[in-house]
Amino acid sequence: MFDRLEMAPPDAILGLTEAFRKDPRPEKINLGVGVYKDERNQTPVLRCVKNAEQVLLEKEDTKNYLSIGGDPAFGKAVEQIVFGDDLAASGRIRTVHTPGGTGALRVAADFLFRCFGSKKIWMSDPTWANHPAVFQAAGHTVAKYPYYDPDRKDIRWNAFIDTLRAIPREDVVLLHGCCHNPSGMDLTPAQWAEVAHIAADRGWLPLIDFAYQGLADGLEEDAAGVRALIGTLPEALVCASFSKNFGLYRERCGALSMIAANAHATERVFSQVEKAIRANYSNPPAHGGLIVTTVLNTPDLRDLWVSEVAAMRDRIHTMRQLFVETLAAKGVDQDFSFISRQKGMFSFSGLTPEHVQRLREEYAIYIVGSGRINVAGMMPDNMDRLCEAIASVLKTTA
Ligand code: LMR
Repeated sequence: MFDRLEMAPPDAILGLTEAFRKDPRPEKINLGVGVYKDERNQTPVLRCVKNAEQVLLEKEDTKNYLSIGGDPAFGKAVEQIVFGDDLAASGRIRTVHTPGGTGALRVAADFLFRCFGSKKIWMSDPTWANHPAVFQAAGHTVAKYPYYDPDRKDIRWNAFIDTLRAIPREDVVLLHGCCHNPSGMDLTPAQWAEVAHIAADRGWLPLIDFAYQGLADGLEEDAAGVRALIGTLPEALVCASFSKNFGLYRERCGALSMIAANAHATERVFSQVEKAIRANYSNPPAHGGLIVTTVLNTPDLRDLWVSEVAAMRDRIHTMRQLFVETLAAKGVDQDFSFISRQKGMFSFSGLTPEHVQRLREEYAIYIVGSGRINVAGMMPDNMDRLCEAIASVLKTTA
């Protein structure tokens, strides 16, 4: 029967990485997948991670299974970082360790299907290319709410909140906690408060994808939206990832936090989430979670981590400014200043699929087909070449 199968198309983001790896041109630049690069074009292991691994090498005394939801110490450490001390102490939150942020989304999706059947999951237009697939694979349907206006390079605020106001009770609304992927346009604290108010009024369930904490304005600042929602609403789900802010990409370390009205209800949710996990991967891989727990629970490693996240964030900010300035210096007439206002790794460049194709074929520059660029993949050394290539395709594409 396998001979009847057709070839599946390459993944919109990870498929690009495969094509990039195979490209023999030495000058190639990858602005596709959301992976941080330092000034030497490396994705380094953070020093706090290396130090924690040394501690683990000495101290780790078993490779026995973790429990279904992972180590409770990991859950506590994550809750403190994501929700802050007060909410973390409220007793309303339980957290499971998942294989990456994508794994957290899938566990959330499986839990919802298991307990409530097929739901409508509302996603921002645009959203991360993999969001629809994760929820559809678990049996849900997907709907869109307006979010980013590519002409004004801004949030479609009125259309956004009008749609949120019309979403029925117990539908699920997927929100980006910070560093909106792909647009880089985040809500302000006042806008988060308004979204929380609407959610409370309408009774839909927020599911927050929180994959980039620390890469916009700061670890605390970036959590403001999540905390505003959790502080206001009785129920929510939050999916965190430690791929980017700990650089643990291939360790697949994420977390799903469940928030209910009180500790008893949260325990019941937790028990159902455990069932969803057991039927999928049984229990999580340990290494990434042990690293995160060790770093967060060791004061000097935690300080080191905070400073390393700040260094990544600052470098991304610097690249945003340099990109805008260099494009102007290379004679690009279009206004790209919006890129310096956007947050996190990504921006919607406004480049068309034709521009993207020409950049790849003629200049070995890889960008997601939607025009999303990973600013964290830019370097001072490749900025001139990158901006010259963009200037050229902008001038000469019909
Ligand atoms: C991205 O958006 O590039 C990252 O989240 C990596 C991925 O899995 O797509």
